[in-house]
Amino acid sequence: MGRLVIVSNRVPAVRDRAQPAGGLAVALRDAVQGQECLWFGWSGQQIPDDEGEDRRVSIDTVDNVTYATVDLTKSEYNGFYEGYSNGILWPLCHYRAGLMNYSRQDRHTYHAVNTMFAQKLAPLLKSDDLIWVHDYHLFPLGLALRELGIKCRIGFFLHIPFPPWSLMRALPGAEKLMRSLRAYDVMGVQTEDDARNVNEGFSVVGVPAQARVFPIGIDPESFQQQASSGLDNPEVQKLEKSLRGLPLIIGVDRMDYSKGLPERFRAYEVFLRKYPEYRGKVIYLQITPVSRGSVPEYKVLREELDGVVGHINGTYGDFDWVPIRYLTHPVPRELLAPFFRLSRAALVTPLRDGMNLVAKEYVAAQDKEDPGVLILSRFAGAAPEMEDALLVNPHDADEVADALHKSLSMSLSERQVRWKRLQPDVWRVTAGSWARSFITALAEVRSE
Ligand code: ADP
Ligand code: F6P
Repeated sequence: MGRLVIVSNRVPAVRDRAQPAGGLAVALRDAVQGQECLWFGWSGQQIPDDEGEDRRVSIDTVDNVTYATVDLTKSEYNGFYEGYSNGILWPLCHYRAGLMNYSRQDRHTYHAVNTMFAQKLAPLLKSDDLIWVHDYHLFPLGLALRELGIKCRIGFFLHIPFPPWSLMRALPGAEKLMRSLRAYDVMGVQTEDDARNVNEGFSVVGVPAQARVFPIGIDPESFQQQASSGLDNPEVQKLEKSLRGLPLIIGVDRMDYSKGLPERFRAYEVFLRKYPEYRGKVIYLQITPVSRGSVPEYKVLREELDGVVGHINGTYGDFDWVPIRYLTHPVPRELLAPFFRLSRAALVTPLRDGMNLVAKEYVAAQDKEDPGVLILSRFAGAAPEMEDALLVNPHDADEVADALHKSLSMSLSERQVRWKRLQPDVWRVTAGSWARSFITALAEVRSE
């Protein structure tokens, strides 16, 4: 089999660059271990507009992976990343058409950046490469590569949800975008619902292709290992000491409106109102690093969260107890994993999510003798595989509050039974097995 070429907007940490929080980089970094690979994408840097013409591809090889990255000009970053990808496609794909800020200029920039990526990548390709393109930033990349004469097999995987056509068609040019996906030999999505929606779109625009389901996973062994060995870390012990024996509820999410954070905080407030015996008797730690902080909706969200957290802490807090410990910076994985293990319950309550790796990480991190309880939104892509979690509708504050109460009062034997039923799937579908299934499907396709 030829070399694997991964193309994604976000490329993970190379040497001293910090690892961004986000499912794609985490899953793929686990998936590419031990395979000859070229990984192409954005460098994470912005350059002045007048330097775009002369930009070069930077190459850096670490072990088996060669990272080839390009800078984006300031205008490209605004139009392609903030504007079209995260201000238009992201809300639409998360069923939030009302949050879409459509602009023709951004659409133009999005296509121009995809063309530029194709032009920079094409000279690096070999004829037997398998090319695997990731996520909504790069929908048209396959077609742009085909227009440059690239004949390799090209697959596409969408990490986020795909909405029904009745919603998708709100996007000006949706038909054209849908038709451009024809350039891919394999089109992969996270869930059956997403596949049904993509296939509905394909049939409307007359594309004969069919999307296939490849649910993504984590590397459970290494996460479990990090979770147990990390308990000795002084930072983890600092957290444990600060709990003073009280149960810990944890939430870990990028700061994104898809994650249902204001709804979650309000549900926690309902919990404190309905079950006052827990005031001062439980610790809730919410770790929410700022993400896409200059996209307007994300700024609004940050202000809203500051307000809700301030309100709850001001109303229910005491001089020796803070209802929500709220952090807006990323926490390294070697601490997150043992934090998960220390907690009695996790709140994973997105309004809509492609998969949600945090849900799987939480299960992997648990101590099988004394496991914690996963409270999971029915609208996370992970929900169909995790029916032994406490499944909730994140819009229903009472339901989430009751689930919190249930998780804190659940018997040890019920916690063990639920965890034992959740665990096999987390171990069966891993980042590695997900990548292998996709690559095998792509390798089996005959390139035209
Ligand atoms: P998304 O891709 O939308 O960010 P996922 O839950 O699928 O959501 O993936 C998030 C990944 O980023 C997980 O591996 C998670 O551990 C990591 N992550 C999320 N929040 C943080 C944080 N506060 N600090 C460090 N890593 C984080
Ligand atoms: O998993 C969805 C996703 O959008 C990835 O494509 C992305 O890398 C991650 O979330 C984090 O977002 P961003 O790259 O915008 O920081």
